Amino acid sequence: MQKIRAAITAVGGYVPDYVLTNAELETIVDTTDEWIQTRTGILERRILKGEGKGSSDIAVEAVKELFQKRGIGPDDVDLIICATTTPDMQFPATANVIADKLGVKNAFGFDISAACSGFLYALTTGSQFIETGKYKKVVVIGVDKMSSILNYEDRTTCIIFGDGGGAVLLEPNDEGNGIIDSELHSDGAGREFLHQKAGGSVKPATMETVMNKEHYVYQEGKTVFKFAVKNMADVAEKVMTRNNLTADDVSWLVPHQANKRIIDATRERMGLPEEKVMLNIQRYGNTTNGTLPLCLWEWEKQLHKGDNIILAAFGGGFTWGATYIKWAYDSK
Ligand code: UT7
Repeated sequence: MQKIRAAITAVGGYVPDYVLTNAELETIVDTTDEWIQTRTGILERRILKGEGKGSSDIAVEAVKELFQKRGIGPDDVDLIICATTTPDMQFPATANVIADKLGVKNAFGFDISAACSGFLYALTTGSQFIETGKYKKVVVIGVDKMSSILNYEDRTTCIIFGDGGGAVLLEPNDEGNGIIDSELHSDGAGREFLHQKAGGSVKPATMETVMNKEHYVYQEGKTVFKFAVKNMADVAEKVMTRNNLTADDVSWLVPHQANKRIIDATRERMGLPEEKVMLNIQRYGNTTNGTLPLCLWEWEKQLHKGDNIILAAFGGGFTWGATYIKWAYDSK
């Protein structure tokens, strides 16, 4: 008998309606559409507008779509794992808020904090619960409302990020499909180059921290870029080699959408043509935990049972990783 694997059986996604274009950013900070496009590949990003709206509101829409596609309801869910860097609140976990808003009563939930690699960490964690045999339906979410922690006076960060997220359902699979392998890494020494200075227990919010704009994303872009290019490509290549996958065997690369130049470097190292790479950075920018599930959501109809898919990410922490999935279904 085949080992029980955790397979993705449905994907939902959501991006807010408001489109923040490069042209609008030109009116906010000292930048140009040309600079943003050539240095990052981004043309526009989505922003969640409205008082009292947070990451959970994006996630709820994604999970509702997932329920509808799979024909299940809130009572069927055993566990919700939410990867986010912009939780609704410091506590409780956004997973709990999402469960409450959806009417999920028979499940437990928790958040994962691993910046841009959060969805891979959450997917790998969720798969372990399925593999035990005890849990049958695990919802894994990657979501962020990055606009809530961006300084729209800082042209080096505000042009990159956007809001959005997606969700996948994990269920047991005994046909050999599902999540086959993952390699995850972290190196806390990298925190220096990408972090939020205040609002945690080391530096709680004060008038001063707010005045100093310390509740926003701080990034040393060039350094992060160098680490991202090397580590994302290294780990993706390692997962391919370990699973005896050649470039021809790989159907799709699903890369974290941080910068088109980082994606190109990873693709080149893996020896893949551009047609095999999911790319939507031009429309959504970097949605942090949202990028990978949003790609799966947009490409779902093109995926086929048995496709070999490599997901790869790099982010703040530093965190990075790659996951190999054998896709489990043909979309209707
Ligand atoms: O997802 C989480 C992980 N994050 C990442 O993977 C992000 C990695 N880093 C990057 O993607 C890139 O480093 C950035 C997109 C953030 C920046 O691109 P870069 O090519 O590394 O630019 P740079 O920081 O080296 O800056 C080059 C120049 C500088 O001007 P000078 O000093 O050469 O005169 C910047 O001040 O570009 C300037 N600049 C801008 N100019 C116009 C920086 N931001 C902008 C801007 N518009 N928005």
